[in-house]
Amino acid sequence: MKILVTGGLGFIGSHTVVELANEGIEPIIVDNLYNSKEEVLEKLEKITGKKFNLYKYDLTEKENIERIFNENEIDAVIHFAGYKAVGESVKNPLMYYSNNLISTIKLLEVMKNHNVKNLVFSSSATVYGMQETPKYTEKMKRGDTTSPYGTTKAMIEKILEDLYASDNSWNIIILRYFNPVGAHSSGLIGEEPNGIPNNLMPYIMKVASGELETLNIFGDDYPTPDGTGIRDYIHVVDLAKGHVKALQKAPKGLNVYNLASGKGTSVLELVNTFERVNNLKINYKIVERRPGDLAEYYADPTKAYKELGWKTEKTIEDICRDAWNYEKNKMN
Ligand code: NAD
Ligand code: UD1
Repeated sequence: MKILVTGGLGFIGSHTVVELANEGIEPIIVDNLYNSKEEVLEKLEKITGKKFNLYKYDLTEKENIERIFNENEIDAVIHFAGYKAVGESVKNPLMYYSNNLISTIKLLEVMKNHNVKNLVFSSSATVYGMQETPKYTEKMKRGDTTSPYGTTKAMIEKILEDLYASDNSWNIIILRYFNPVGAHSSGLIGEEPNGIPNNLMPYIMKVASGELETLNIFGDDYPTPDGTGIRDYIHVVDLAKGHVKALQKAPKGLNVYNLASGKGTSVLELVNTFERVNNLKINYKIVERRPGDLAEYYADPTKAYKELGWKTEKTIEDICRDAWNYEKNKMN
């Protein structure tokens, strides 16, 4: 089986390439290196002992995608490629709508022309918006998105629904990730945020490495047990395995799955666990709440367990250990 992995040199894509290769599935990578480095390819080859075909193409150009499909017998596509920085999308919405929507539409057009109608799409918990209860299930309707980035995810989900309604020979799997963190246990691949990170785990990493002085914890007056925000953190290797299971096990048609642990962890719990397992101190101070943040949400992941036979295996301890192992490796 040959799978086109768009954005396959990025954080989640690279870990998924490893898990596909481990299952004897052949990944073909396309990435324009906007948010990744070519050296990730060598790391992937080192981890798996296999060689991969990389196309350094931009997916907004249809001829590029055509060329990949002309040169390969592709069975399915896992579509990771896109821009993902929430704050940047607020500052530059057109850039986000243009890249995320155009690349997806061009990709779908080429897939249709080549009669390749199997797609896995990277969506996000952000499409739920604010719900009445913090435990999000796939039965809930999409809510109001709070950033242009989130809106691109909701719009693409809608495009995929319309496409399926027009032709139900498509098999479309929408995976809604909660908070992907951690790194491969080899320490060779992990998350590479540009500039000062906005997300919690990459920020903790910069403070641990001494690049940044203090972690700002955004609020300790939320209605949660320790007052800090609660999220559902998922180890990126578990997440990558979820994609393989989805390809192998999802029923025909259009299906949506939450990929998450089902367990909420607070900011302070994450910081304390990071300190304990790595024997380090993280300087932090409590500051104002970050506008737009919700107090608490986590997933109900039972649908993925029942239908795909997938659940997370790694713990918050594993996440903290593996993330720091990757960071330390880079410093050496
Ligand atoms: P990433 O930025 O590390 O990887 C995305 C990759 O896509 C990058 O390597 C980038 O160079 C490439 N890319 C972007 N636009 C492209 C284009 N036009 N043509 C070719 N390549 C292009 O991001 P990630 O964390 O691995 O996320 C993967 C997907 O999962 C994204 O769609 C993201 O929105 C989604 N997602 C991520 C998270 C998260 O927290 N990381 C959460 C929910 C959903
Ligand atoms: C954010 C995005 C979401 C995206 C996800 C990727 C928003 C509103 N949501 O989610 O669309 O899919 O990242 O993982 O931006 N925190 C601190 N200090 C920090 C950073 C974060 O205290 O320096 C807290 C936040 O208040 C929150 C938790 O840590 O309670 C997690 O934050 P973050 O990693 O940014 O993820 P989300 O806000 O859940």
